[in-house]
Amino acid sequence: MNFENKVVVVTGGSQGIGKAICKGFAGKGAKVSILDIKEEETQKVVDEIKKDGGTAKFYKTNVMDSSSVKETFGKILKEFEYIDILVNNAGIVNTKPYEDVTESEYDLVMGVNLKSVFNTTKIVFPLMKKRRSGKIVNIASVAGKRGGGILGNTIYAASKAGVIGLTKGLAREGGPYGINVNAVCPGPTETPMLKEFKGERRNNFLNTIPLRKFGKPEGVANMVMFLASDLAEFITGEISDVDEGIMMD
Ligand SMILES: NC(=O)c1ccc[n+]([C@@H]2O[C@H](COP(=O)([O-])OP(=O)(O)OC[C@H]3O[C@@H](n4cnc5c(N)ncnc54)[C@H](O)[C@@H]3O)[C@@H](O)[C@H]2O)c1
Repeated sequence: MNFENKVVVVTGGSQGIGKAICKGFAGKGAKVSILDIKEEETQKVVDEIKKDGGTAKFYKTNVMDSSSVKETFGKILKEFEYIDILVNNAGIVNTKPYEDVTESEYDLVMGVNLKSVFNTTKIVFPLMKKRRSGKIVNIASVAGKRGGGILGNTIYAASKAGVIGLTKGLAREGGPYGINVNAVCPGPTETPMLKEFKGERRNNFLNTIPLRKFGKPEGVANMVMFLASDLAEFITGEISDVDEGIMMD
């Protein structure tokens, strides 16, 4: 896979899976714009990428806020004019029982996990259509397929099911214009997000995973890069599990 000079935008790149995605693309020659709310942490990722000879820039952005996203893309498009690859990765988890979830928590989960994808694609999709080329990869979750039940709760599952629906719809609309839109569903992956999954519950669950291990951010990043590469020219509307075998049936 070679992303030499490709213009790549990744949301949520300060840590975890997003960080691995940014480093993966930058390591293969891409120019990576990283959108995140965490200033210091994301700047550190940019510095690491630059130290390794790559190209990256941080844009402080709240992806659930359409005006913040618009402002950032205005800046990115001044520098690059177009975007080759968009990765919607930013996300948050909620683990409460359904009856304890507040309206503001619901809005937050839906905002960061689902509306964010609407906000970025509202800008990027028409540009890709005009250029008749582009790749979009959304990070969903196995929770979106199975209604949660591992770490994320019901509203988390609903937000990720929404991401899967958006992915398939955009794949249908984008196909005739040379745009590939796919999603990746990670299983439990060793990132700061997974820290909430602990104790006996974690160990019991581990024993049910066919590969008997949790995923690594780089494993998800590899699938993202594959789907964004020329190798995946004939793949669109695909919801790919990187889940150590959890969803196997
Ligand atoms: N870790 C897992 O087990 C797992 C499993 C399935 C799916 N996922 C999904 O993978 C993606 C990455 O997860 P992770 O484990 O690396 O999570 P993480 O919590 O480690 O990182 C999430 C990133 O999103 C950023 N972010 C959060 N809210 C934001 C906002 N409003 N605007 C901009 N950026 C924001 C954070 O600052 C952080 O950089 C998420 O969409 C998550 O739902 C993770």
